[in-house]
Amino acid sequence: MRAVVYKGPFKVDVEDVPDPRIEHPNDVIVRVTSTCICGSDLHMYEGRTAAEPGIVFGHENLGVIEEVGQAVTTLHHGDRVVMPFNVACGFCKNCLAGFTGFCLTVNPGFAGGAYGYVAMGPYTGGQAEYLRVPYADFNCLKLPEGQENEADYALLADIFPTGYHGCELADVRPGETVAVYGAGPVGLMAAYSARLRGASQVFVVDRVPERLAKAEEIGAVPIDFTAADPAEQIRDRTNGEGSDKGVDAVGYQAQGHGTDGEQPAAVLNALVQTVRPTGALGVPGLYVPADPGAPDENAGKGMLLVAIGKLFEKGLRVGTGQANVKRYNRQLRDMIARGRAKPSFVVSHELPLDQAADAYDKFDRRVEGYTKVILRPAA
Ligand SMILES: NC(=O)c1ccc[n+]([C@@H]2O[C@H](COP(=O)([O-])OP(=O)(O)OC[C@H]3O[C@@H](n4cnc5c(N)ncnc54)[C@H](O)[C@@H]3O)[C@@H](O)[C@H]2O)c1
Ligand SMILES: [Zn+2]
Ligand SMILES: [Zn+2]
Repeated sequence: MRAVVYKGPFKVDVEDVPDPRIEHPNDVIVRVTSTCICGSDLHMYEGRTAAEPGIVFGHENLGVIEEVGQAVTTLHHGDRVVMPFNVACGFCKNCLAGFTGFCLTVNPGFAGGAYGYVAMGPYTGGQAEYLRVPYADFNCLKLPEGQENEADYALLADIFPTGYHGCELADVRPGETVAVYGAGPVGLMAAYSARLRGASQVFVVDRVPERLAKAEEIGAVPIDFTAADPAEQIRDRTNGEGSDKGVDAVGYQAQGHGTDGEQPAAVLNALVQTVRPTGALGVPGLYVPADPGAPDENAGKGMLLVAIGKLFEKGLRVGTGQANVKRYNRQLRDMIARGRAKPSFVVSHELPLDQAADAYDKFDRRVEGYTKVILRPAA
């Protein structure tokens, strides 16, 4: 089959690789119809991880079941399904508690697994014609038949639940004000989720005009961090108080505010300044224990200079980690199915799988309005 293969920093190719097959009676094989490129794929693409050439990317996958293992009970040939990016067993201590992003079974020695991702277990990615899904009864969420809302449902694999998770970690409640840093797909989904949860005002901070325009489209207030200190801009718009809640949808690749270049702690520190005392921060943005591309030695070991004193003084709560997609994807699916949510407003490009190399290049450079790309292997 054809698949997107990592060749080395800044290079992917679409190549022939072996077809996946049923390896365990709980597996299914899915014919992939939509598979998205994620900001997290770019960490590997840019050579900032230990990902070795040869890995097939793709953890945001939707498709139709082609083959069913003998022990699978709830799924049938032809079912349309979307898979959380987390691979999870469904029966370990963490899965039972709803922390399916931290499954203890699927990736020995590590809490959590994913498709096509370095250190996340032996699960081949889905930017390909076919995908093997383990523990399939648990990992497949059934969708209405047909092709309706395909782009919306594809976002259930990761960014819609991840944005929602950012709000859950920050405990966003009706009537609150929320500051979201980052207007990438995750930030836009966090802002959208804050609106779905009844926030009275949502601020979205970034510097990319097209992305800020998308934030405005969904009723958020765009804040350009190159114009003035973003925390100050938000305090000015909240009677000097600061927002009730904050979401970091940027992670360790944050650009410094006011200076050029990467400052991995810039967003965490900005949030400490932005959120009012006793508020809470949700941090779905990724931080890593080792970063070969970091600007200094400590950051290279995942250690950042964060204003913990101010955080303590303000009594801020912080939640972080991989999104437990399975915890939210059913409810969010039903919001899409019933017309209550339409997250596909973030999708900028839907392209055949064969155009993946060009799509990675442009998405990585954030040019030509590339915000969220869906690859279509069948196109
Ligand atoms: N927790 C999870 O389960 C999970 C899942 C998916 C993605 N992620 C992570 O979420 C983060 C965002 O993902 P994405 O796909 O939206 O990435 P992205 O790179 O497309 O978006 C990040 C945005 O942040 C902006 N930005 C950079 N520095 C900033 C700053 N100082 N202040 C405000 N904005 C700034 C960039 O201009 C960009 O638009 C990444 O770290 C990704 O790895 C986490
Ligand atoms: Zn993703
Ligand atoms: Zn588990």
